[in-house]
Amino acid sequence: MHSTKRLSAPLIDELIQEILRINKLQSNFLADSVKALSQSDTQVFIQYLNYCLDQQLTLGYLAECYDLIVKDTFTQQLYFKRHGHYKYSSYAEVESLVYRNEEYMSMYMYGLAITTFLWSNHAQMKHFFKEMLPKTQSGRYLEIGPGHGFHMMEAMQSSQYEEFLGVDISPTSVFLTQKILSSRYFGQFENYSIKECDFLAWEPNDQYDAVVMGEVLEHVEQPQKFLKKIAALTHNTSHIHVTTCINSPAIDHIYLFGHAQQIADIVQASGLYIKHQLLIPYQSTTLAQSEQDKLPINIALILGKVDD
Ligand SMILES: C[S@@+](CC[C@H](N)C(=O)[O-])C[C@H]1O[C@@H](n2cnc3c(N)ncnc32)[C@H](O)[C@@H]1O
Repeated sequence: MHSTKRLSAPLIDELIQEILRINKLQSNFLADSVKALSQSDTQVFIQYLNYCLDQQLTLGYLAECYDLIVKDTFTQQLYFKRHGHYKYSSYAEVESLVYRNEEYMSMYMYGLAITTFLWSNHAQMKHFFKEMLPKTQSGRYLEIGPGHGFHMMEAMQSSQYEEFLGVDISPTSVFLTQKILSSRYFGQFENYSIKECDFLAWEPNDQYDAVVMGEVLEHVEQPQKFLKKIAALTHNTSHIHVTTCINSPAIDHIYLFGHAQQIADIVQASGLYIKHQLLIPYQSTTLAQSEQDKLPINIALILGKVDD
């Protein structure tokens, strides 16, 4: 058993102070983010930070991980505004910069996990994920691109699936997901395995009762192939949860969705249909304004498989 080092918010405040030490511009934004944290989010955030501290990471390092994402997003947003497209468009261009760059990928993944507490769009997506995940269904759960592993860990905590499999192209993501699941910090998980491979190149024999693919479609050259493969791996009652983003530049976003309709079209062309969707406009704008000004929009979808 691991002891919880602190149970109050000072740990979060210390992280915020570390972030502000390297990026003062985040001051008002982070003050609002911390105010918006519910009691249960605060508890889980503290638990996640304590987990990281137990892995010998420091709050200073975690602040740098978070800041890496903030600064990368800012740089890529400038590029996108100027050129109207993402900087990179092929996997080959970002492979060594991101997925196979262990130092960068680790920082990126820890930073991304932290944004699920501090960025309202990511927090809303995380809540939607937990809310929609079936709590009593049994069978096989597949997650494509678990990255930091935090969502997969939460799925293992709160569902009754009997077997869990994660498939990720990045060795660092595989390592980080294995680390969080085997840490015993969030539960004693045994029925899982994490595989390093390109989802498209993988040839499974099984069907899945749940498939989760968070923030992967914008990272791949042919997103429709991913959805088609998901359709081939599922049945009519499988739970399918997919998230992606529109006009949302980042160093490793290589497929540009300019409009929600484009996503709906490839969903339909893949033999799937949208059961529920959550669209989150850019900070303090409406969906219409975000669309018109090409500002980032997040989208989370619960999909069903069309009858064969
Ligand atoms: C931005 S992270 C998303 C992490 C997490 N799912 C989330 O929602 O926060 C994208 C993940 O997808 C993985 N990925 C990208 N292309 C992939 C592919 N072709 N096959 C499997 N995983 C892939 C990356 O290595 C990374 O771990």
